[in-house]
Amino acid sequence: MSANLLTVAYLAAAVLFILSLGGLSRQETARAGNMYGVIGMAIAMIATFFHPAVDAWTFAVAGIIAGGAIGAVLARRVAMTAMPELVAVLHSFVGLAAVLVGISSYLALHDLHGAELVVHLVEVWVGIAIGAITFTGSVIAWAKLRGSIGGKPMLLPGRHVLNAVVTLAVLGGMVPFLLDAVAAGGVTDLGLGLVLGMTVLACGLGVHLVMAIGGADMPVVVSLLNSYSGWAAAAAGFMLGNDLLIVTGALVGSSGAILSYIMCKAMNRSIWSVVFGGFGTGDSKPKASVAAPQGEATVTDIAGVGQLARDAKSVLIVPGYGMAVARAQHLVQEFTKLLRSRGVNVRFVIHPVAGRLPGHMNVLLAEAGVPYDIVFEMDEVNHECGQTDLVLVIGANDVVNPSAETDESSPIYGMPVIQVWEAGTVVVLKRSLGSGYAGVQNPLFFNDNTQMLLGDARASMQGLVAELT
Ligand code: TAP
Repeated sequence: MSANLLTVAYLAAAVLFILSLGGLSRQETARAGNMYGVIGMAIAMIATFFHPAVDAWTFAVAGIIAGGAIGAVLARRVAMTAMPELVAVLHSFVGLAAVLVGISSYLALHDLHGAELVVHLVEVWVGIAIGAITFTGSVIAWAKLRGSIGGKPMLLPGRHVLNAVVTLAVLGGMVPFLLDAVAAGGVTDLGLGLVLGMTVLACGLGVHLVMAIGGADMPVVVSLLNSYSGWAAAAAGFMLGNDLLIVTGALVGSSGAILSYIMCKAMNRSIWSVVFGGFGTGDSKPKASVAAPQGEATVTDIAGVGQLARDAKSVLIVPGYGMAVARAQHLVQEFTKLLRSRGVNVRFVIHPVAGRLPGHMNVLLAEAGVPYDIVFEMDEVNHECGQTDLVLVIGANDVVNPSAETDESSPIYGMPVIQVWEAGTVVVLKRSLGSGYAGVQNPLFFNDNTQMLLGDARASMQGLVAELT
């Protein structure tokens, strides 16, 4: 393939990636967005085979077939609730790839002199540093998301000083590395030692930064790591001299950064506190009192909730992670249809971090066929909770926890929540009075206008559908 044709193919792929991002920003166009991404990636992969630098065809084809097969099996098997873990693992691969590309670029250093050599060495150093932080940070995020590591932030004394010292060491190490490589005009044992030492430090920094983040802030960390993985890919693109990888990495990096910022705003968190590993989280240990039960809850049954639903004129449904676990979305849609056929005004309200990944609830409701025009963001209807007869909280917990507004000692303090307690009656469908992802007890369950419908959300919804049929 001529160089011009390759450039055109890469340009087409880059445009398709931009269209893909645009499509993915709205539910109605998300499928088309996905398709643009798939076509763009196919063009990019085929064109790369014709890149003059690619000569190890057998190796590349074997890698694509093996990687594609593993990816296809994993994607088919993964439960919707485990998607964030999968995403975290994929970010870690991008980070690891950037580290390996960086080390091999350094080892294969030749025919570069003067400014060109210095620029390449800086690319190698920065690429490895970002890749290593992304790699270990994503591994820790994966372990936290799957519960292998507790969700509580690990707040070491003097952790900010530690972060600052390690960051300075990572950046400062570049100076002797550059001086050594320029003087020797290539690879030396000292240079390799510096690269490997910096890789270990950056790996440690990635672990420490994510360990310091509390469970409820994990969504932002995942999107931030998504951004880092983009920058790591862009750095690998610079090292390999591959323009498309640079463009794609920059797209992922900047869209991930924008998403992180949006999520931080939605959760009333400072983006810097997440970037710098819990900066401003406070050094106090999480209070034990937040997990203590706070009174008597009123437990109801299917017939009781059925009656409330029949009497209501307006119903708000707040779905959460438990609806995903119970796979209750289709029954929720059936129940919604039954209510609407009775003239009840039913609306869904979705918290920005409900579930375990951005847009988790939107995807489930869309899959079940809930009309888009009755699904609202938290900000659109939160002020209307007070004029609502009945709120059904289906497997949600942290996102409706009033202590986020009132209890300064709570780890979720300051996060905007859906003010369901303002409604006439609140019914919470979950299996117990236990806490949600952030490990915080929810005083909502003990309010006078709250009733608990205890049990698996799927079984409860089956009962409610039967009750209204
Ligand atoms: P959570 O606070 O995690 O609460 C979910 C509730 O569902 C649990 O309290 C659980 O109570 C209940 N549940 C579990 N299985 C159930 C089943 N089969 N039937 C009925 N109920 C079931 O969920 P949320 O309100 O959606 O909040 C999301 C949380 O996850 C936030 O803290 C958020 O920060 C965090 N997070 C979000 C993301 C993203 S991007 N969305 C990513 C990572 C973390 P029982 O055990 O008593 O049933």
